[in-house]
Amino acid sequence: MYSQSTVIVGGLAHIPVVIGIFSFIQKFFSKRASSFPQDIEPKKSPVKPVEQKSIPKPTPDAKAVSNTVIKKKHADVPVNIYRPKTPYEGTVIENYSLLKEGAIGRVNHITFDLKDSDPFLNYVEGQSIGIMPAGEDANGKPHKLRLYSIASTRHGDDFNGNTVSLCVRQLQYEKDGETINGVCSTYLCDIKPGDKVKITGPVGKEMLLPDEEDANIVMLATGTGIAPMRAYLRRMFEPTEKEKNKWNFKGKAWLFMGAPKSANLLYEEDLQRYLSDYPDNFKYTKAISREQQNTKGGRMYIQDRVLESANELFNMIENEKTHIYLCGLKGMEPGIDEAMTNAAEEKGLNWSELRPQLKKAGRWHVETY
Ligand code: FAD
Ligand code: A2P
Repeated sequence: MYSQSTVIVGGLAHIPVVIGIFSFIQKFFSKRASSFPQDIEPKKSPVKPVEQKSIPKPTPDAKAVSNTVIKKKHADVPVNIYRPKTPYEGTVIENYSLLKEGAIGRVNHITFDLKDSDPFLNYVEGQSIGIMPAGEDANGKPHKLRLYSIASTRHGDDFNGNTVSLCVRQLQYEKDGETINGVCSTYLCDIKPGDKVKITGPVGKEMLLPDEEDANIVMLATGTGIAPMRAYLRRMFEPTEKEKNKWNFKGKAWLFMGAPKSANLLYEEDLQRYLSDYPDNFKYTKAISREQQNTKGGRMYIQDRVLESANELFNMIENEKTHIYLCGLKGMEPGIDEAMTNAAEEKGLNWSELRPQLKKAGRWHVETY
């Protein structure tokens, strides 16, 4: 017979064993959970390309928790594989104009080969890369890098997973009667296939897509702000890309696109193809500022289109699965804010309260420049 104290001491002595078993089980399962297969195996990267894990549905009392989860979830997105001191020298594969006859300015689609990068320069949709233009500034120092949103999916335009593409507008403005050309954007629009370009990054976690296949994605873009949106839309609707990524998008994608003229609309043929292939999943609203007028007789901007669609848009925003992405001219932010304020009012909502909530829940994504 055991005395009562022997039983208690014996029981206590087993506690470390029980804890050990539990901790082994926990480690085993967490290891399995973090080893999801990826749709592209990087050849040499220490940082794996990421298939993002899902955000738990944000319920009101779980907001603080879901914010922590969002931060953790993005921890494995690749960043700064290449830095300015040791950039990767990528080779230009192609560089062509995206504009039609009669367009304003210069906007090019440029693709770089990444296959010789070691470690491998991998990235996910919504990130940016840095470009270090050749030459020196007025002080004889090497030019600083400029950031550009990535316009391709992680699989690249040729679906082989070893290229990155950009959508670049040449900056041009008049000063004292002289035309000034932006350093890096001119360098990029002028480079030729075969040229070597110093690339850094990738960077950015603001514009990542959610993992859920039934998420709704509202995109507000002006000009080259379409770059990340092009990557999202390819991920959603481009047949070979879909085969590769196994992401069966089932939600609604709504692109508001601002361009000065019809001839300036970017990637238009692809967007029209997605519209005819996925009429239930893709909506495309254009604001062509110098060809269309808003109700006040001014230039038609995307915020005017947002106002026109206030009801439908806010019905979508009320759904927790809806994310909003804003990319392009910094100058559009106040206009979009005003439009959202008015649009929200029509639904009896307060945008100045709603926007921080959306931001906190990781559903309001802004990258303007
Ligand atoms: P610079 O030679 O650096 O000249 C720019 C400077 O010129 C400005 O700082 C300002 O001082 C001056 N300036 C500009 N306009 C005027 C004016 N009207 N009057 C007087 N002075 C003026 N660009 C793209 O084309 N595509 C993209 O996808 C893209 N993505 C970006 C993503 C992020 C996250 C950021 C931050 C920026 C992005 N940009 C993008 C902008 C890009 O980084 C460069 O800023 C842009 O190409 C201009 O660089 P540049 O070297 O040609 O101009
Ligand atoms: P506009 O230049 O006619 O005033 P791009 O980069 O190709 O020039 O396209 C940018 C688009 O965004 C243009 O149609 C431009 O119109 C428009 N735009 C300019 N300023 C704003 C603003 N504050 N808000 C929204 N759209 C703007």
